[in-house]
Amino acid sequence: MLHYEPKNLSVLEVHKLLLGGVAPRPIALVSTISKDGINNLSPFSFFNAFGANPPVVAFSPSRRGKDATLKDTYNNLIAVKECVIQAVTHSMVEQVSLASAEYAPDVDEFIKSGLTPIDSDIVKPKRVKESPFQMECKLLEMKSFGEGGTSANLAVCEVVKFHVAEELFTNGIIDPLKIDLVARMSGDFYTRAGSGVFVVEKPIGKKCIGYDQIPQHIKESEIYSANDLGKFGNSEAIPDKEEVNRFVQKILKEIPEGFTYTYDAFLKYQELNDYKLMLQSALRIPENKKVNLELTAKCALKNNDSDFAWKVALFAVNY
Ligand SMILES: Cc1cc2nc3c(=O)[nH]c(=O)nc-3n(C[C@H](O)[C@H](O)[C@H](O)COP(=O)(O)O)c2cc1C
Repeated sequence: MLHYEPKNLSVLEVHKLLLGGVAPRPIALVSTISKDGINNLSPFSFFNAFGANPPVVAFSPSRRGKDATLKDTYNNLIAVKECVIQAVTHSMVEQVSLASAEYAPDVDEFIKSGLTPIDSDIVKPKRVKESPFQMECKLLEMKSFGEGGTSANLAVCEVVKFHVAEELFTNGIIDPLKIDLVARMSGDFYTRAGSGVFVVEKPIGKKCIGYDQIPQHIKESEIYSANDLGKFGNSEAIPDKEEVNRFVQKILKEIPEGFTYTYDAFLKYQELNDYKLMLQSALRIPENKKVNLELTAKCALKNNDSDFAWKVALFAVNY
């Protein structure tokens, strides 16, 4: 590991560390209006949501790195105390980047970026039509930390109205594939959030056994990854010997009469992610029994079938 204290680094080095390690960051496309009525539009990735009751979001229109001056978004917020924050989707990211170019305060960045302004219901700044998720906000507090270049100005806002495209929802939640958000990483890197989506089951409301309760032979196996062990720990109970034996007998009975399994078949089932057939073949193939059973349990975990995985992993201790 490399170890740094910020006081021994340049501001640029500190900034680069934060951009690389605090990532991916959601992007707030913030629309404000000056007291003279000029629209402003800029992206900010030092941004997040902090509570729902009331709905509070915050972002940082920092001081400019080159001369420590205040950005137009900051000045407009101080003057008008309202903004609209919109989510940034993949289809609009280049125009959003264009909106980040430094234009003079009297330049309307809706015009420069080509994004479409539409009226808000409650606040004066306009909404961006192209974004499927828009939040009309009132400034609650502006908190400044330092006066040098890139120092933070935390704009804490309350959302007073959400506008969400109806087609984004699947089973009552905003579908990550449909919203197709992008996020900011280090340098010029972005990520398209939908392409990396996977499921991690919430432990909320469950009495999880925890990592410490996982039997040593499972922890010491070379087959399971740290994430596999985390999934084992996310279960509510460990099946007992009886349950494991009943389960294995049932699987053995399901094997068609006279059917023979080969190691190649096991590998094929593994490729197909079919952990049930993996188990049938693992039980019948004499070689590599322990490893094959553990690979089967691992595959069941991958498919979020923890009960199956536990029983196979516990049975593997017999070999
Ligand atoms: C994706 C992205 C994220 C950005 N995040 C921030 C940020 O969190 N804070 C910041 O001060 N500037 C950020 N910037 C730079 C501002 O958008 C840029 O300084 C802009 O010119 C500010 O405009 P304004 O002076 O009209 O407010 C970001 C730029 C991009 C492209």
